[in-house]
Amino acid sequence: MAIHYQQEHRIFTLDTKNTTYQIKADCYGTLLHVYYGAKVSGNMDYLLTYYDRGFSGNPADAGQDRTYSMDILPQEYPCAGTGDYRSTALVIRNADGSECCNLRYVSYKITKGKYGLPKLPAVYASEDEAETLEILLEDSVSKVQVRLLYGVLEEKDIITRSAIIQNCGTDGVVVEKAASACLDFLSGDYDFISFYGRHEMERNFQRAGLMHGSYVIGSRRGTSSHQYNPAVILAERNATEDAGGCYGMAFVYSGNFMCEAEKDQLGQVRFMMGFQQDSFHYPLGQGEELVVPETILSYSGEGLGRLSRQYHRCIRENICRGVYSRKARPVLINSWEAAYFNFTGDDICKLAGEAAELGIDMVVMDDGWFGKREDDNSGLGDWQVNEEKLGCTLGELIEKVNKQGVKFGIWIEPEMVSEDSNLYQEHPDWAICIPGRSPIRGRNQLVLDFSREEVREYIFNQICKVLDQGRIEYIKWDMNRSLADVYSAEGHTGKMAYGYVLGVYDFLDKLIQRYPDLLVEGCSGGGGRFDAGMLYYTPQIWCSDNTDAVDRLRIQYGTSFFYPVSAVGSHVSAVPNHQTGRTVSLHTRGVAAMAGTFGYELNPEKLSAKEKEEIKVQIQQYKKYAELIQTGEYYRLSSPFQDAYTAWMFLSDDAGHALLNIVMQEVHGNMGVSYVKLKGLSRDAVYEDVESGRCYSGAALMEAGLPIPVEYGEYLSYQMEFVKKRTAGNFL
Ligand code: GLA
Repeated sequence: MAIHYQQEHRIFTLDTKNTTYQIKADCYGTLLHVYYGAKVSGNMDYLLTYYDRGFSGNPADAGQDRTYSMDILPQEYPCAGTGDYRSTALVIRNADGSECCNLRYVSYKITKGKYGLPKLPAVYASEDEAETLEILLEDSVSKVQVRLLYGVLEEKDIITRSAIIQNCGTDGVVVEKAASACLDFLSGDYDFISFYGRHEMERNFQRAGLMHGSYVIGSRRGTSSHQYNPAVILAERNATEDAGGCYGMAFVYSGNFMCEAEKDQLGQVRFMMGFQQDSFHYPLGQGEELVVPETILSYSGEGLGRLSRQYHRCIRENICRGVYSRKARPVLINSWEAAYFNFTGDDICKLAGEAAELGIDMVVMDDGWFGKREDDNSGLGDWQVNEEKLGCTLGELIEKVNKQGVKFGIWIEPEMVSEDSNLYQEHPDWAICIPGRSPIRGRNQLVLDFSREEVREYIFNQICKVLDQGRIEYIKWDMNRSLADVYSAEGHTGKMAYGYVLGVYDFLDKLIQRYPDLLVEGCSGGGGRFDAGMLYYTPQIWCSDNTDAVDRLRIQYGTSFFYPVSAVGSHVSAVPNHQTGRTVSLHTRGVAAMAGTFGYELNPEKLSAKEKEEIKVQIQQYKKYAELIQTGEYYRLSSPFQDAYTAWMFLSDDAGHALLNIVMQEVHGNMGVSYVKLKGLSRDAVYEDVESGRCYSGAALMEAGLPIPVEYGEYLSYQMEFVKKRTAGNFL
């Protein structure tokens, strides 16, 4: 039993293997947050203190008691209009224009298994793996009800939260703000860790100490965005990679979001994740409800590394779905950086031929195969194969590729339309715009209104016609601009932006139901929509349009805090790199790409015979390690933002097999030696470096580390495989 209810004190305890979360419905029916952190036992409500705090008002129920204030108490779902002056999880505008919702406890339900959410992605789990707590709250005046949902995955140290807001009254209300998770901390000094970025440089690591005031990140772009990832950490000030307490929040949603951390007048901290508040107006008529997307919570008392591994496992095993979620991904070669728009069917066949020789499993025909599309100014929306350009039908092309023993994949961007397209000529009103104003262009294209079913249905049918032309085993689903001009005739822009995301999910759901064996890789100008919501439909996402191996060290480092390696699309590309002009050895490019799904993004015709030989070996190496890489535990051993080298390792669950990866980022004259310390090994066991045959104790590798060679040359890299030989013993 992970969830316990103690009737006498109205306390709910959610226990996971190593953590405890406690909630209390107090004597006034306020739902208080009592505790979240390392596992404890007993009632934690002794932590709640009551003092008269000036200018922190008191609800009428408390009578003359000036020590009871919503402005001070830690709450599960704080609402605006209750005397809580901090930022709140819920803001409701009532029919009379008032902004108030005073939620009180009504009832609870505990069930086996994990709840699901209508039309939204959410963590899934078997009946035995999870339990659900549902708490019902109600505002007695407006009759707005909120069902707070908690999913507990005991073994994985994961707790999920979501909220369903329903108008059970007779008057209409408008939801102006809604979060799915709120954590109120009574004490502690915390750092806020977030992952900011831009196109071609996503998810940079940033850590800042919380001060009095608020730290807010989010997206207003209609997608989760390159600029801030919807996954953040609140870490105790002294928490490191390997020690200290830290709390994660990952939003299972791919649209506008907001995450806030606020340190209040007493030094208490409120940490929230939910919809972006700006432009969020969501009307609820009688009986209508709003489902707030889920937030995945996790706590680690053993630092950031462990927190990441908890998320990796949950996302890999309880978010990603489909045949490929647990299957080795094909090594693929993508035509984008090999040819951009400039290819014929013969070129794709040649690419497949070269791929076969190198040991690559799949060729992907990227942008440019449909409509009138010779550059990025036209053709989107016209999902008809350009047979003239290919010199054959798509079916014939696929057959030619398959005959060479290579699988076939294709690029699509279903959510978009070019003004220069047949679709736009026929249905200009399908593009999102504000009537009477010229739309904002992005990459010279407009966004189709995917909140409309007829629009989705049309595109779906067009895409299916393409997919039915042959054995297409993979699609890359792209999305190359931010939303703008979001408009609804009723003035409910928030509803429309939400409807857009639900539309994308609906489309993807239909697609994977119709083609259950298809591998879908998400993409949005690289990693502009890299979130747990998309991973529910697409088990891998192209991590960045920046394929430079050295920049990728940072991008992939930031990505690794929440997302498993199996989700990270990463390829070896040509040098000088097309985004940075940097030249890095093929070996180092391979090592960097092996921290992902692995593949190539170059024209093999331009490679020398020696390079081709090297690639053959590289692919064999990757395939040898693929399982360990994709399902092993991931350890960060250094930071590319601080250290002279970036190192990480993969470790099998039984700690018997490890793959150490090191890339030198700096080189200097007469350079000192860096030592890399491994992690997670069995201390007393003996590990053999497979290549040299040299043996070390697990403790030695972890405590003293290994010297990284000082060698001549930039961005040198090393990959070392270790195998556990004996569980203990003297081996000297
Ligand atoms: C985006 C993607 C690229 C490529 C191009 C094609 O930028 O991220 O990988 O597919 O679109 O136009």
